[in-house]
Amino acid sequence: MLFLIKSYLQFLWHSKNEHAVHSPFVFNLLTKCFYDKKFKPEYDVLKNYRNDLLQNKNTIEVSDFGAGSRVFKSNKRQISKIAKTAGITKKRAELLFRITNYFQPDTILEIGTSLGLATSALSLGNPKAAIVTLEGCPETAKQAQLQLQKFNGINVECVVTEFNSYLQNCSKKLSELKTKNCDLIYFDGNHSKKATLEYFELLLPTITNETVWIFDDIHWSAEMEEAWEIVKNHQRVTVSIDTFQWGLVFFRYEQPKQHFVIRI
Ligand SMILES: C[S@@+](CC[C@H](N)C(=O)[O-])C[C@H]1O[C@@H](n2cnc3c(N)ncnc32)[C@H](O)[C@@H]1O
Repeated sequence: MLFLIKSYLQFLWHSKNEHAVHSPFVFNLLTKCFYDKKFKPEYDVLKNYRNDLLQNKNTIEVSDFGAGSRVFKSNKRQISKIAKTAGITKKRAELLFRITNYFQPDTILEIGTSLGLATSALSLGNPKAAIVTLEGCPETAKQAQLQLQKFNGINVECVVTEFNSYLQNCSKKLSELKTKNCDLIYFDGNHSKKATLEYFELLLPTITNETVWIFDDIHWSAEMEEAWEIVKNHQRVTVSIDTFQWGLVFFRYEQPKQHFVIRI
């Protein structure tokens, strides 16, 4: 907790808003997407998806993966509690919807489904996109599938798999999915430095000029901050944006390499 507070204070010190941004690409992203305050009808769908899970008092047996939970001690968990603690927040889900809607990626990969709170935002953001979402825990994935079906997430394929084994075998699958020119990947599971960098390297062959990658929890721990430093300094990354919770990276060859720390 102390680590997060220190990190956040540093972030506040360095962060800027659109007035300090001279890149038209980033300025447009901030003003037309990040800071868009207008209500969208899809926010009501996101709210209903969340409320439905928050009212679900059934319990499931979860298999623990990745860096583990800071909240749960046992593996028997109430669905409402998982929705409250493991999923994306309301504000972030709305932002993820706007980002997806803004970039209109044809293909989306989510690494870490949980109950599909973020998946529903991705799906609503571009209902025409082909979305693959990965989850290692079979019981959790089953709940996500039921919930997505209930809320018409028909463009989503839920895959029950350990991330690494899927990503190592999927380069062919991903290239088959690349119908047009834009990809979005949401990295939201296994928040360890080693895993983050492994997934980064495994997915690098799939990048295009339009690719958008979003890393969750980049300041969650000292080692996640180290991973973020390596990602943003990677020679293939041009633009990177630190919003504290998320790190966004772009591989646009026409952009000079530049790092932004942005308050949202
Ligand atoms: C933070 S949650 C995802 C939250 C979700 N994206 C959302 O916003 O609603 C991370 C999920 O990834 C899964 N996970 C973590 N590490 C994994 C691994 N190595 N392989 C497969 N699944 C993993 C966990 O079971 C958990 O459900």
